[in-house]
Amino acid sequence: MTDRIDREALSAARESARQRYEEFASSGLKLDITRGKPCSAQLDLSEDMLVALEPGDHIAEEGDTRNYGGAPKGLKALREIFAPLVDVPVDQLVARDNSSLSLMHFCLVSSFFHTLPGGEKPWAGEKVRFLAPAPGYDRHFALCEELGIELIQVGMTPEGPNMDEVEAFVAADPTIKGIWCVPKYNNPMGMTFGDEVVERLASMTTAAPDFRVYWDNAYAVHDLTAEPDELASILDACARAGNPDRAFVFASTSKVTFAGGGVSFFGSSLANVEWFLARDAMRSIGPDKVNQLRHVRFFGDSDGVRAHMQRHREILEPKFESVAKALATDLGALGIAEWSEPNGGYFVSLDVVPGTAKRVVQLAKEAGVALTPAGATFPGGADLADRNIRIAPSFPTTEELEQALDVLTTCVVLAAGEKILDE
Ligand SMILES: Cc1ncc(COP(=O)(O)O)c(C=O)c1O
Repeated sequence: MTDRIDREALSAARESARQRYEEFASSGLKLDITRGKPCSAQLDLSEDMLVALEPGDHIAEEGDTRNYGGAPKGLKALREIFAPLVDVPVDQLVARDNSSLSLMHFCLVSSFFHTLPGGEKPWAGEKVRFLAPAPGYDRHFALCEELGIELIQVGMTPEGPNMDEVEAFVAADPTIKGIWCVPKYNNPMGMTFGDEVVERLASMTTAAPDFRVYWDNAYAVHDLTAEPDELASILDACARAGNPDRAFVFASTSKVTFAGGGVSFFGSSLANVEWFLARDAMRSIGPDKVNQLRHVRFFGDSDGVRAHMQRHREILEPKFESVAKALATDLGALGIAEWSEPNGGYFVSLDVVPGTAKRVVQLAKEAGVALTPAGATFPGGADLADRNIRIAPSFPTTEELEQALDVLTTCVVLAAGEKILDE
C-alpha cells in the first residue's frame, strides 16, 4: 500500500484534516460505530412477532409448546423454514434458543468431557489448539481464551483462510482440534469463502481424528445486493470427502428478528447431532418452543424470511453505500487505505497504513467517536501490523454514521501523515 502513496497529496490532505479535526474535537461529538448491532428501525421490522401468537395459539405438530418435551431437535416447522437457508437437511438441523454463540461455547465445553464422533478421547487434560484465521470475530477468539484453548493465527485471503497454511498446520499437529470460520459475508472482511476453500477444508488431512470446522454462518441470509454471494455446502463437501462428521454449522436469527430474543441453529452429521443432543439433554429439558412457534407464525415459510431480509437490506444498504462513498472520496486518491465492499453482512474492514490503526482509533476517540479497538479482530487483540480497523455501520443513523466516517477518515489521514511524513 505505502509504495502508492503520493506524499505531496498526503501533505495537502493533512493540512485540511488538521483543521477539520480541531472542529470535531471541539464540537462535543458522541458517536459509536463499534459493534454490529441492528438499529431500532431493523428491530421494528420484527415488532409483529410480539403479537404473532394469539392466546390459544400454542399447538405445534409436536403438541403443546407451552409444556416440556416433545421436540428434542426443536420445532420441525421452524427447522423446515431455516433448513434451506442455512443449507442443512431438516433432520440434521437442531433449533435452540437465542444465541448461536452459546451453542459454540457448549460444543467446545462438551468436547472436553465427551469423546466426539471419530475421536479417541475427550479433550480434558490435553493441550488443545484452534486455528484462528485473522482478521476474524473477536468473540470466537475470546471464547477459546476463556477455555484455555490456544489460538494459532493463520492468514486470510480474498477467498477465505489461507489454505496452504491451514493444511500444513492441521496435517502436522494432532493438538489442533478445530478452525473458526465465518464463511459468508465474513466478520470482519465481508467476503464469502470460495468453493475451493470449502472443498479443501472438507477434504484436508488432519492429524486430529476429531478435528472440527466451526462453521459460524451468522450472515447466511444477510444480503445487501440483488446478486448475493453463493456459499458451497460444507456438509455436502465433508460427506463427499469421506469426512461426514467434520463440520459443526451454527446460525441464528439474532440479526433477522431480535438480537436478544431470536432462535439459533446447530447443524451437522446425524452422528454429531446425536452427540450434541445427548449432551444438551443434560443442561436443559428443552428449548423455548413458544418463541420458536412465534418465529414460525411470523415468517410462515422460507420465502417469508427472504422477504423480511429484503426489508433489512433496504435499511442497511444505504449505510454501506455511505461507508464506501466516504472512504473513496476522502481516502481513495491518497493510497493510504484499502477497504472491503461486501455484498452482505454487517462489517466493512478497513486497512490503514501499517503501524497506524491504534493511533487512528485513539484520535477518533479523542474527537468523540468510538471505534472497535484496533487489534480486536486478531487473537489476543494483537494485530502485529497494527493496520486493521472494523467498521460497523448498522447501528447509528445515517447522519451519525456520516459524521463518524468524516472523523474516521480525517484520523486516518492524520495518522498516515505522522507515520509517513514525520517519521
Ligand atoms: C460471526 C458472528 N457469530 C456469532 C455472532 C453472535 O451470534 P448470536 O447472537 O447468535 O450469539 C455474531 C454477532 O455479531 C457474529 O458476528
